[in-house]
Amino acid sequence: ACGNSDTGGGGTKDDGKITMGFSQVGAESGWRTANTTSIKESATAAGIELKFDDAQQKQENQIKAIRNYIQQKVDVIAFSPVVESGWDTVLKEAKDAGIPVILTDRSVDSADKTLYKTFLGSDFVKEGKLAGEWLVEQKKTATGPVNIVELQGNTGAAPANDRKKGFGEAIAANPNLKIIASQPGDFTRAGGKQVMEQFLKANKQIDVLFAHNDDMGLGALEAITAAGKVPGKDITIITVDAVKDGMQALADGKFNFIAECSPLLGPQLMDLAKKVHAGETVPARIETEETTFTQEQAKEALPNRKY
Ligand code: AHR
Repeated sequence: ACGNSDTGGGGTKDDGKITMGFSQVGAESGWRTANTTSIKESATAAGIELKFDDAQQKQENQIKAIRNYIQQKVDVIAFSPVVESGWDTVLKEAKDAGIPVILTDRSVDSADKTLYKTFLGSDFVKEGKLAGEWLVEQKKTATGPVNIVELQGNTGAAPANDRKKGFGEAIAANPNLKIIASQPGDFTRAGGKQVMEQFLKANKQIDVLFAHNDDMGLGALEAITAAGKVPGKDITIITVDAVKDGMQALADGKFNFIAECSPLLGPQLMDLAKKVHAGETVPARIETEETTFTQEQAKEALPNRKY
């Protein structure tokens, strides 16, 4: 339908085929790779023509890609915003062009909710909360301080803000649990390794690591081992995502707990695209279903894990 619209924007079809412009955050993690695969495969399966752009974790690249999609008069724009703030102008441009926007995976903090049709993704606060609650339970008999370090996602990203919030709120239940250091590791293995090295140098006693995703946790494993400590034993490691490598580390006893974040958003996204294109009303918020994993549960789930 792309580029042949008599309404001056998306929405009017020439060939009946829906064209979606998708701006992806980047390829920073195993989660992201699985998410990209899900989107590409689902578009093909749904008969939707996909224009895909990898923004390499830069907001300016996402804004550029969205403007290109507006110019090309795609039918639907979908994107996963790298950070929460700063989208109003470009979203208004899409709205003025009559192109519906679907937020997927991450949301924006725009006050004007009419700038997008729906937000499909996880409850990141809940993920952080589940991680924190597990720790509270594990440490309920602790009599002295429990020193926690936190590897955050990229600054300003919804999952970084929200996981920090949920975890912080949950551990407030036990004043012994203290976050002694918290820094962004950008959701990457390299970032996780580098920041964990700094944490280990600067802090004599680290009891727990909370990493906002598996990849940073996996990077941190290298730093922990290099420092002569045993991951999963000397340092309790909690992460988010449950991608295969993370689940393997959990099953191997190197991680202790994972709060799941599902990247398999493609099928639902394509469904939503068809609906908004047809002018149907869709729910403003669609939450992904997810669970949590202990070491035992990871061992059981691993053989059937698809990503
Ligand atoms: O937005 C989802 C987060 O982004 C995932 O938890 C993380 O791995 C990814 O980079």
